[in-house]
Amino acid sequence: MSDQVILQAIDVVKHFGGGDGWLTRAPVVQAVDGLSFDVMRGETFAIVGESGCGKSTLARLLMRLLSQTSGDVLFEGRQISSVEGEELRKLRRDMQFIFQDPFSSLNPRMTVGKLVGEPLEVHAPELSARERRSKVATLLRQVGLRQEHADRYPHEFSGGQRQRVGIARALASGPKLIIGDEPVSALDVSVQAQVINLLGDISRELGLTLVIIAHDLGVIRHMSDRVAVMYLGRIVEIGSTEDVFTDPKHPYTQALLAAIPSMDGKRTDHSATVKGEMPSPSDPPSGCRFHTRCPYAQDRCRSETPHLSPGARRSHQVACHFSETLERPASLVAPKPRSETVEARFALYRAATEGGTVKHLKNPNQHQQTERT
Ligand SMILES: Nc1ncnc2c1ncn2[C@@H]1O[C@H](COP(=O)(O)OP(=O)(O)O)[C@@H](O)[C@H]1O
Ligand SMILES: [Mg+2]
Repeated sequence: MSDQVILQAIDVVKHFGGGDGWLTRAPVVQAVDGLSFDVMRGETFAIVGESGCGKSTLARLLMRLLSQTSGDVLFEGRQISSVEGEELRKLRRDMQFIFQDPFSSLNPRMTVGKLVGEPLEVHAPELSARERRSKVATLLRQVGLRQEHADRYPHEFSGGQRQRVGIARALASGPKLIIGDEPVSALDVSVQAQVINLLGDISRELGLTLVIIAHDLGVIRHMSDRVAVMYLGRIVEIGSTEDVFTDPKHPYTQALLAAIPSMDGKRTDHSATVKGEMPSPSDPPSGCRFHTRCPYAQDRCRSETPHLSPGARRSHQVACHFSETLERPASLVAPKPRSETVEARFALYRAATEGGTVKHLKNPNQHQQTERT
């Protein structure tokens, strides 16, 4: 494995339930069903899919907060399921988590200073109390808060500020990789972009790898280098954000893209949005799991499981029998013009990935000063 790969999922499966005896057997929930992907050091990797498709389960598997039914997760080449003792402590320092809900993930009885200082006590016990306070102040500044915020309690802050505290807490141990499970979906829309920009800026400044989970593509469009689209526990399409956004090949990705509100806030194309409910992961459709909602489904899709197209692991891949022959929905034939920022990011990404290496990307949109509510 190249040392450019920091995190690797190899055919990871997580099934919940099932009971012990055949009489008590509950239906098995196939939450994650055979996911493989590489996350490159220094990149922002996004995982997108509808609610219930297995994103949080995957995030917990990647962090070793859950153990997988089968398959492997490798962090820096080591199987995380087998690390113990000191190695496990290092893993906990190197991989941090940002939770979806900044309201319930912060202990309301702890001051912000204590919340951010707590991981330092664990991971940097050599610091004196004074050094720790000074480090907390630095971390607060890094996330756009002020030193005096250290004496306040979580309830004194807005949602966006609380999520900044959550980010400062995640940064405190000096991690190499941060996984954010829908880190902005509990926030007001106006605050979401600020927190996303902050995360992007910090990760670039510090050379962090980010894995961002989102339920809509709009959130990650401007910040991620690559994206994996999940449907019912499987990846249906994976590629650079540029490829996936300008040339979506899976009907599900196409529908998700068509559903992103345009700049004026209106949905762009109602006809292309995914219809109906997502089937239950305890009784997933045969063959292609998307066939029950796919406007192009044919007999083969009901019987034969499509796999990601062969090719280099980091190329644009799609799991659809007919992706090469599909007509694109009208709204996607002419890709919408991208903003200058996104163009700049794609240009940087192309330059940085030449030769297969993701170099440290510079931020094309300078740190925009952020909310103070
Ligand atoms: N501990 C669990 N026991 C049983 N089923 C679970 C458990 N956790 C998640 N699930 C089920 O697994 C599926 C995927 O859930 P989740 O990973 O939370 O999806 P997402 O984060 O994409 O909304 C859902 O059907 C959910 O009900
Ligand atoms: Mg979730």
